[in-house]
Amino acid sequence: MAKGTVAYKILESHLVSGKLIPGEEIAIKIDQTLTQDATGTMAYLQFEAMGVDRVKTELSVSYIDHNMLQTDYKNPDDHKYLMSVAKRYGIWLSKPGNGICHQVHLERFAKPGKTLLGSDSHTPTAGGMGMIAIGAGGLEVASAMAGEPFYLKMPKIVGVHLKGKLPDWVTAKDIILELLRRLTVKGGVGKIFEYFGEGIKELSVPERATITNMGAELGATTSIFPSDEITRAYLRAQGREEDWVEILPDPDAEYDEIIEIDLSQLEPLIACPHSPDNVVPVREVEGIKVDQVVIGSCTNSSFVDLTRAAKILEGRKVHPDVIFAVAPGSKQALELITQNGALLTFLKAGARILESACGPCIGMGFAPPSGGVSVRSFNRNFEGRSGTPDAKVYLASPEVCVACAIAGEIIDPRKLGIPWVKVEMPERFPYGDEAFIEPLPEEEAKKVEIYRGPNIKPLPEFDELPESIEGEVSLIVGDNITTDHIMPAGAKILPLRSNIYAISEYVYHYVDPDFVRRAKEIRDQKGKANIIVGGENYGQGSSREHAALAPRFLGVRAVIAKSFARIHHANLVNFGIVPLEFKHKEDYNKFSLGDELFIPDLKNRLQEGKEIVVINKTTGEEIVCTYNLTSKQISVLLKGGLLNWIKSKQGV
Ligand code: F3S
Repeated sequence: MAKGTVAYKILESHLVSGKLIPGEEIAIKIDQTLTQDATGTMAYLQFEAMGVDRVKTELSVSYIDHNMLQTDYKNPDDHKYLMSVAKRYGIWLSKPGNGICHQVHLERFAKPGKTLLGSDSHTPTAGGMGMIAIGAGGLEVASAMAGEPFYLKMPKIVGVHLKGKLPDWVTAKDIILELLRRLTVKGGVGKIFEYFGEGIKELSVPERATITNMGAELGATTSIFPSDEITRAYLRAQGREEDWVEILPDPDAEYDEIIEIDLSQLEPLIACPHSPDNVVPVREVEGIKVDQVVIGSCTNSSFVDLTRAAKILEGRKVHPDVIFAVAPGSKQALELITQNGALLTFLKAGARILESACGPCIGMGFAPPSGGVSVRSFNRNFEGRSGTPDAKVYLASPEVCVACAIAGEIIDPRKLGIPWVKVEMPERFPYGDEAFIEPLPEEEAKKVEIYRGPNIKPLPEFDELPESIEGEVSLIVGDNITTDHIMPAGAKILPLRSNIYAISEYVYHYVDPDFVRRAKEIRDQKGKANIIVGGENYGQGSSREHAALAPRFLGVRAVIAKSFARIHHANLVNFGIVPLEFKHKEDYNKFSLGDELFIPDLKNRLQEGKEIVVINKTTGEEIVCTYNLTSKQISVLLKGGLLNWIKSKQGV
């Protein structure tokens, strides 16, 4: 037990049920929620279906930052729906252009010692402010807004001891890339990473947030820094010092595990395509020609990142063969770089300025050329995520990015011969609150009518879990399947997020374009369940609940995999898809596409905690499966999903 740690203290003060012992199911009270528009429309449709009159959290914010293209009515319809829902239910609304949810939340709402649940996998960004901030599916966020506690298995608390001082040109991004290099994208599953040691004293809140943001790439439940004098100074500059409380680990705090990083030994690092843990020193991949460079995303687009990048660029030009784009993380950051001249430096150097939004991170309005190399200050580089299926995306610090933009090739920035610049935090940030809409008082809110354009379709209803499942293997996939593989994003697909009927046409679109046809045939003509067979770490990546919701709509009732990524595992349960794990991993090879399967007595066996036997009727083999489900998750599965479970609880 990691008593005395920052994470333990916050969890203890929010504990609703369970014991803080790693692996035990706990429920915690949620103080704040956030949604972004890509997951938010669905989350609010679900919240509406719960029949609650007003959000029950201390604070809930709806951000519009993902689906920003307005090439037809779909995204604007969604935005208008979100604005009206926020007014109706007592939610803050951050308008398009105000910035990326995690950056803006850190600036304006994150509070040390509080809990935050967000329908975006990078919600742990707010851990840089000493919060327990967790990413979850939209449905879980909707239930937190309805006053339900959040259930999870108590993670192990891993102390990350930052020793020494970062050398020049080595930054917060390199600290998290070093952890990814050591631990891989699976290394954080079931863990909270808590940073301590003299090394944290050199890191500002936005730099800490870069690290906690990308803890998501480790698969961690969340990451956290103490709330200290640095946190206080940041909150003071944001005009909200009253939100500060000191939360430090006790001197005798014991972590479940400890990892040590000697900062003085680090050097500039880069994650090579196509995984954030494919990390090497920049010097090892020098000389690769670069087509585009982007600084932005919720990871590295703060005022500090942008100002330092501009200082490096001062008096220099972007290489003629490179498109260099800058997407400030928030309106506040944009205002600051306008005031301090960094924006003009970018313009004079030949940069393209994008709006304060996710944009290139999900191929929204900016994508690499075919087969192109893009170096980004972002957090993810999965195949196809950029919007270009064969692009090669590298991830690095903004300082490495800008060096590559100048050189036209991957280069260790220390080779440029430019002196290192230190950026001081401003005494006072421009708050930039003009682009928020405040919640309405309760009586006024009740009169608000919700706007539903033609892009907002009602939720499909799902049945309870049957006693036994008659099914067919409709897809077999390998290891590390991401939620981007399952439910791709991109400018064509994202606008369909509030229309399950339309978006489900794209499930596994780039993996197997015939999957949807097959799934519908199994569902409609054969009247059977679809069953997917997967490898290790199935569903890694984002909190995208459409990666569970749309397959469920297509009739998927079970996924049998070697292992699952945490958030997607929870999302499968929330949409009534049973996540089963092979007892013997080699049994993965005992399935072929089209095999007829029978899972007898599923409901009872889940309730009794017994192993599940999957009978392959085509081969005659019996495959034993286990599951990693809490008692609450089993009751959710029996009801056919979380929405059904909450509705039955609330008597709706
Ligand atoms: Fe947006 Fe990319 Fe972050 S989609 S929330 S910038 S991971």
